[in-house]
Amino acid sequence: MESIAGVPFAAGDGEAREDVAALRSEIERLEAQILARDNLLAVAAHELRNPMHTILLLVTSALTIARREQMEGVTPKLERIRHVVDIYVKRATLLLDSVRLEANAWAADKREFDFCDVVRDICASYEPEAQFAGSPISLAMPETLRGSWDRLAVEQIVANLVSNAIKYGQGGPIDITLEQRGLQAQFTVRDRGAGIAEIDQLRIFERFQQAIGSGRRRSGFGIGLWLVKSLVEAHEGSVSVDSQVGQGSTFTVLLPGLTERPSTRINDKPP
Ligand SMILES: Nc1ncnc2c1ncn2[C@@H]1O[C@H](COP(=O)(O)OP(=O)(O)O)[C@@H](O)[C@H]1O
Ligand SMILES: [Mg+2]
Repeated sequence: MESIAGVPFAAGDGEAREDVAALRSEIERLEAQILARDNLLAVAAHELRNPMHTILLLVTSALTIARREQMEGVTPKLERIRHVVDIYVKRATLLLDSVRLEANAWAADKREFDFCDVVRDICASYEPEAQFAGSPISLAMPETLRGSWDRLAVEQIVANLVSNAIKYGQGGPIDITLEQRGLQAQFTVRDRGAGIAEIDQLRIFERFQQAIGSGRRRSGFGIGLWLVKSLVEAHEGSVSVDSQVGQGSTFTVLLPGLTERPSTRINDKPP
């Protein structure tokens, strides 16, 4: 039996065969276009990111001098520049990773660290944006939650969900939790924004997909959640969304790989 794009079908008469051949060549053409787009994205992200590393180093050293010399007029401006450049570099890295993930050329570099540190750092770095949006962020987590994961991936997962909550949270409070669930880390981000219609809830995890609901279309590539899903799945974890239009959204990530002993063990018997 023949197949197109992995779908088997029974070959028909001559006319049907011509249709099949046309379909095949159309698929090949589209696949070549996608490959060309991904290559262009990779080159663009790489070329645009690299000079920014130098700028970041220069701003950081200027900031050190400004702080040492107590130059109060320039210090906050330099801090702001460094923050913006840092976000820029992360965005370019995100694009680059997305191409690598799509090409299966991304491999997790797992090392032990504390998930709580990442959540704390990322939330602190998004604090100015959250304040600007009027969204107070509340954090509930244990003192430590150690595991073996790819640190940059966990940073991307947390940063994407937190930045989405700020971007789509319509100025409402944002609740972030991190806890142990058996041998998994469970990370949740809840906002009180417009929510996501059921029909869009699967689609938003695909690459370049944005749900355009009651709100305006926002800036962004529509790859953040796709990246979250790919990175989570690369760790054998899962991500899901629970949302109702008008009532906000809760994103939940479950990530296996804890290295700490579970604090409550159901099968433990008293001595
Ligand atoms: N917290 C959220 N509340 C409502 N909609 C959201 C939320 N997070 C993501 N979305 C929807 O999912 C789409 C995809 O998100 P994402 O992949 O992060 O891309 P981007 O943020 O660049 O648009 C967004 O465009 C938005 O429509
Ligand atoms: Mg996003």
